[in-house]
Amino acid sequence: MITDNAPNKLAPLADFAPRFGTVDEIIDALIEMGSIRMVEPGMVELDHALQCAAELKLIRPNDLELQVAGLVHDICHGRCHIRDHGEAGSEAVRDVFGTRVAELVRLHIDAKRYLVAVDQTYRSKLSAVSIETLALQGGGLSPGQIAAFEASPYAEDACLLRIADEAAKVAGREVQGLETWIETLKSLALTAQ
Ligand SMILES: [Fe+2]
Repeated sequence: MITDNAPNKLAPLADFAPRFGTVDEIIDALIEMGSIRMVEPGMVELDHALQCAAELKLIRPNDLELQVAGLVHDICHGRCHIRDHGEAGSEAVRDVFGTRVAELVRLHIDAKRYLVAVDQTYRSKLSAVSIETLALQGGGLSPGQIAAFEASPYAEDACLLRIADEAAKVAGREVQGLETWIETLKSLALTAQ
């Protein structure tokens, strides 16, 4: 059964954020995303996740952590306020996939706010939904926040994830299915730290 994405919730993060302990729990959560309709017409959340991972595979074919971060970056979308889903997703996957994947998931929202602040053309590349959620996420970063973001060793890759995120909203686009990611997810879970 397809359900609509949950409305923004304002309750404390801890009430909604899971903390996955095994890769199988994360795979189950991704499978569930196949039943959650996105605001963008004709797409479910799993379509978006798979398209994002596929984009990153094109950009960085050998960077499995970045690709998997793309696959799971919205795993807490709809479980909490849109502003907090990066933070919640980061903590949800940290124990299984380690620090880099978790930080990329956490920073994907700040990356959007950063790109809007430093690139005058970036806002015009955002979908209507992304522009709407940008306001809920705090808008462009302030100069102090820009400096803090740039100081992160994950900033550049978080921007790549964010660019792939925006490109991953094409209804009907054919990309590799979830089943083709299982081996990568399991091998990354074994080596993560
Ligand atoms: Fe996304």
